[in-house]
Amino acid sequence: MEVLSSNHFIELEDKYGAHNYHPLPVVLTKGEGIHVWDVEGKHYFDFLSAYSAVNQGHCHPKILSALNEQAAQLTLTSRAFHNNVLGEYEKYITELLGYDKVLPMNTGVEGGETAIKLCRKWGYTKKGIPENQAKIIFVEGNFWGRTLAAISSSQDPSSYKGFGPYMPGYVVIPYNDIPALEKALQDPNVAGFMVEPIQGEAGVVVPDDNYLSDAYDLCSKNNVLFIADEVQTGLSRTGKMLCCDHSNVRPDILILGKALSGGVLPVSAVLADDDIMLCIKPGEHGSTYGGNPLACAVAIAALKVLVDENLSDHAEKMGVILRRELEAIDSDLIDLVRGKGLLNAIVIKHEDPEAAWRLCMNLKENGLLAKPTHGDKIRFAPPLVITEEELMECISIIRKTVLEFS
Ligand SMILES: Cc1ncc(COP(=O)(O)O)c(C=O)c1O
Repeated sequence: MEVLSSNHFIELEDKYGAHNYHPLPVVLTKGEGIHVWDVEGKHYFDFLSAYSAVNQGHCHPKILSALNEQAAQLTLTSRAFHNNVLGEYEKYITELLGYDKVLPMNTGVEGGETAIKLCRKWGYTKKGIPENQAKIIFVEGNFWGRTLAAISSSQDPSSYKGFGPYMPGYVVIPYNDIPALEKALQDPNVAGFMVEPIQGEAGVVVPDDNYLSDAYDLCSKNNVLFIADEVQTGLSRTGKMLCCDHSNVRPDILILGKALSGGVLPVSAVLADDDIMLCIKPGEHGSTYGGNPLACAVAIAALKVLVDENLSDHAEKMGVILRRELEAIDSDLIDLVRGKGLLNAIVIKHEDPEAAWRLCMNLKENGLLAKPTHGDKIRFAPPLVITEEELMECISIIRKTVLEFS
């Protein structure tokens, strides 16, 4: 059989696909754990994990077996009928994470949209905000997807420019700024404050230690819902099941996605207690695929892998080693190393604005895949199943590539 080259597939995408992404020129065909292979058979370590969707590692056998078993049985009923997996999944995830109820959706951005609808509804029905006056506070640097509601809270022109008009009822304040939040909360029409515990797409921006707990306290004092977008930070990525666990904060509304399926299907979820969740009534929200039996079976398996393999503790330990070794690299190219658990980034300092991209290209040549964000930041976020030995091998690739860079 003829083996088609990477260029062939890249040209196909270029000719027939919309140009809404700028991927690294590598064409992957197989994945297993932290390993991926391109169509020419070259092996790479995956240091992006599909933006933290593949926390459990590529093609985890237990998740695949749940997928295959359920796929052979029943895949989609829509919510017009019940199915025998949804309730089991709802029981499992709510007990695991300590909430009364879950609302299942598909993509991360739908999770965010759902959280905001739920929060607005709570604002009108419970808090008594006058109709159509509810406000949601966001922080600068946020990223929660590409829908019109999501880009309306963005300050990144490549996200929002040319796509207006934007969603009303948003207030954007600086991140990691408690006085700014205190001031914004004085408005009685504020229903919610939505925040990523660590800003992923902004380049793994970690706030001060007390930020989340202080923000949570201020929200509860002002009868405002604290909404945590843990789509990227959640599910063991930062060394705890939820990143908010580091701060002993229990969000009023929790959004999960990405690793909820271990990279197998789009599965997202919004969790809250009854006094909030039951504000949405039958017929007021939903999705054809949300809560489908295939997704539910996969999500149970994906969550069980995190628990059974103790991936939170492992991510915490591996993260300490990764940051220590990155900090020890003797090069001016790395301006800063930051992160928690296995959600990490380096900030590149170089006169060439393309330096981070070039470094990623060189890392690729040396067998490690990572992608720059916002020009000068490179996220290092391998699947959490990485062993210490593999991590050390990856660090030596990074060290060699950084030291050879010019
Ligand atoms: C924090 C956060 N929220 C939401 C999303 C959107 O998820 P999705 O791309 O599945 O819609 C992302 C995606 O990167 C994210 O990082």
